[in-house]
Amino acid sequence: MPSQPLHSAPKHGSTSPQVIVHADSQAASACVAREISDLIRERARQGQMAVLGLATGSTPLQLYHELIRLHRQEGLSFSNVITFNLDEYCGLFAEHPQSYRHFMQENLFRHIAIPAEQTFVPDGTLAADALPAYCERWETHIASTGGIDLQVLGIGRTGHIGFNEPGSAIDSTTRMIQLDPLTRLDARAHFPDEQSVPLYAVTMGIKTILQARKIRLLAWGEAKAHIVAKALTEAISPALPASFLRQHRNTAFHLDKAAAAYIPEALCQP
Ligand code: F6R
Repeated sequence: MPSQPLHSAPKHGSTSPQVIVHADSQAASACVAREISDLIRERARQGQMAVLGLATGSTPLQLYHELIRLHRQEGLSFSNVITFNLDEYCGLFAEHPQSYRHFMQENLFRHIAIPAEQTFVPDGTLAADALPAYCERWETHIASTGGIDLQVLGIGRTGHIGFNEPGSAIDSTTRMIQLDPLTRLDARAHFPDEQSVPLYAVTMGIKTILQARKIRLLAWGEAKAHIVAKALTEAISPALPASFLRQHRNTAFHLDKAAAAYIPEALCQP
């Protein structure tokens, strides 16, 4: 069972975002995994699909481990699940070890018996002139499934969600974007050298993300503390893409204590 969160409170009397500070990232991940498994099981009982929006990177790894555990030990079936990933690096084929498709296969999909045709990760290998039509089809495809029930997010040190870097508009949809130098610096360790870090990515837009019925942002560690606090307290603006989450009706920030370090007490009090 996940441990009880330390604090959980709506912000300033509004319903969103909820800020939930957990004892640690493991407890936070277990809490979100439980919410996802409840959603999947409820939809299965109704004979319906559950549609998940998924993220890559280090943040959701414990969440994915927990979903794998629920599949193996508690019989959670993913046969009624459709997944859409937020983003993919431009120029990397699905088999590339640093592609986000590869990441998802290795860290989740191949362990949970989800039908391959129900998992979608943007294609980063299309020519620039083919991308706009592809991105439009991606949006239509999400809508045709009934829309994303629950979107998992991490947050970048630039304040990006997905790869919506500073400058991303609230009505932005799936598109190609140039990665911020700080984002490329943070990705550097996963590539052999600086030149190999992609310059561009395909990302769902802010609007795409805000259309999800529920959004669950995860953040761990002191490296995320400043940007998490800014997202919750500074002006809502394209300069700080994660701040747009404050305009969504059902968003929760699940944090460990280090990532919550600079959030004003008032936002986290029971
Ligand atoms: C990844 C994504 C990004 C990451 C963010 C945090 O699909 O959309 O927004 O969530 O860059 O990355 P980590 O978790 O590696 O700190």
